[in-house]
Amino acid sequence: MTEIKAVGVVGSGQMGSGIAQLAAVHGLDVWLLDTDPAALSRATKSITTNIHRLISKGQLSQAAGNNALGHLRCSSNLEELRMADIVIEAIVESEDVKKTLFLELDRIAKTSAILASNTSSISITRLASATSRPCQVIGMHFMNPPPVMKLVEIVRGADTSDNTFFATKALAERFGKTVICSQDFSGFIVNRILMPMINEAFHALYTGVATKEDIDTGMKLGTNHPMGPLQLADFIGLDVCLSIMKVLQAGLGDSKYAPCPLLVQYVDAGRLGRKRGIGVYDYRAAEQVKQSARL
Ligand code: NAI
Repeated sequence: MTEIKAVGVVGSGQMGSGIAQLAAVHGLDVWLLDTDPAALSRATKSITTNIHRLISKGQLSQAAGNNALGHLRCSSNLEELRMADIVIEAIVESEDVKKTLFLELDRIAKTSAILASNTSSISITRLASATSRPCQVIGMHFMNPPPVMKLVEIVRGADTSDNTFFATKALAERFGKTVICSQDFSGFIVNRILMPMINEAFHALYTGVATKEDIDTGMKLGTNHPMGPLQLADFIGLDVCLSIMKVLQAGLGDSKYAPCPLLVQYVDAGRLGRKRGIGVYDYRAAEQVKQSARL
């Protein structure tokens, strides 16, 4: 089985920064890559803050925390990934952009390296077809935020080998995660079920069934969900939710997966959720209060 000591993570947004943190805290050498230097500096700041928080809560020793930060390198140069045993891609949810990246990764990464995608919905088989190593391509779908959420959904493409599957599963288990395995159909397990529910919550809001607060409270208290579907959509990112609905619609060929017009309109307006300060809810005032409390 491929032994994993060095991990490359491409995309340093919400998911990539969390995955890099997990790998660093679990003693691996980590390269975190992004084309946007501002995203890299945000990621470095948030990983450093999170690791210091773990130390201050006694959940990580000072030595392990320093070790994790010492093993994390950030870069905009993809060529740095040539030593990685596995590269986990966590860039924008677009098949074309991901395929272009996989083509590059295939050229750069060593021949034994596994190429994994954190995609929420895109076909692993099609991403694999952009490379010369489809048996070493796999879906490794972390939940948000990766350091906290217990699940990793592993997706086997049509040609994914047993070696790739077991090495990826062992890595997820090393991170303390529970693994589920999905075949390669649009949305896999979690988003196949979750996204139509979120889309339906948008329809309920769009058609005036109820206010956003009542929709979320209804699902929280009525079905014991920790967060309402509209709050969850803001947390995930409305652009990510919209991309996943489009993949479900195209991949499963059923109009029931058509994105709600209100979801489309919010994304068009740049209301992408918490990461932009506004989505279904407006977080900007609360964020300002938090920032002035920090000054
Ligand atoms: P994000 O928008 O927070 O971060 C994406 C990052 O990728 C950005 O920093 C961007 O600069 C970078 N990027 C874009 N194209 C690039 C390229 N060609 N090379 C290098 N960097 C590039 O997105 P987020 O939410 O972290 O999502 C990333 C992936 O993870 C998507 O595939 C998404 O579907 C998946 N995912 C998202 C979850 C969520 O709750 N947001 C949950 C599970 C999976």
